[in-house]
Amino acid sequence: MHKGHILLLFILMIFIGCDRTRPPIQFFPDMKNQKSVRSQVQFREPPAGTVPRGAKTYTFTDPELAGQKLKNPLTPTADTLNRGQFMYNAYCLPCHNSNGEGFGPVVKRGFAPPPPLTSDKVNNWSDGRIFHVITRGQGIMSSYASQVDPIDRWALIHYIRALQKAHGGTADGTP
Ligand code: HEC
Repeated sequence: MHKGHILLLFILMIFIGCDRTRPPIQFFPDMKNQKSVRSQVQFREPPAGTVPRGAKTYTFTDPELAGQKLKNPLTPTADTLNRGQFMYNAYCLPCHNSNGEGFGPVVKRGFAPPPPLTSDKVNNWSDGRIFHVITRGQGIMSSYASQVDPIDRWALIHYIRALQKAHGGTADGTP
């Protein structure tokens, strides 16, 4: 056979296997054929009507009613206050500042200043009333329910009470 023909045959053979409608022959498929989530692809939505294990739904829409019904299950022990301070510093301090008076770092960079947490108004709010703000948000402040677990919200509220006390009020909310 002519050398040129052999080359042509060789080139043809390369393209013989190229049928894109069929999967290629796999000698070692390992874990190639599976329904895995590819990187950078969003996780699948949970099935409709399901709730994560241990999750409790928050049903209050009226802040005043929440304030009357919800009671703080924690006592302000040193551990609770430490936890509260940790959560406060991470999630509230950026706007409400380390002393609760408002002008935190985010506000200094242009975000609307929040009202002070050390006001007579919040001093007189029940723990449940503050819990409602953290859970549902208020006005331009968004909800922190997904970032702060319920038990951490209660610890956080004890810490806010400590800030209020440092500011002049008393820990149980009476000014
Ligand atoms: C991005 C800034 C920002 C962060 C972070 C933030 N807040 Fe606020 N907060 C605000 C603003 C602004 C308001 C006033 C909202 C309004 O009434 O329009 C507010 C209002 C409040 C009020 C009601 C005060 C009142 O006098 O009505 C409470 C209580 C409160 N925040 C607690 C918290 C707690 C606790 C955290 C942390 C879990 C937190 N906030 C995180 C900006 C923030």
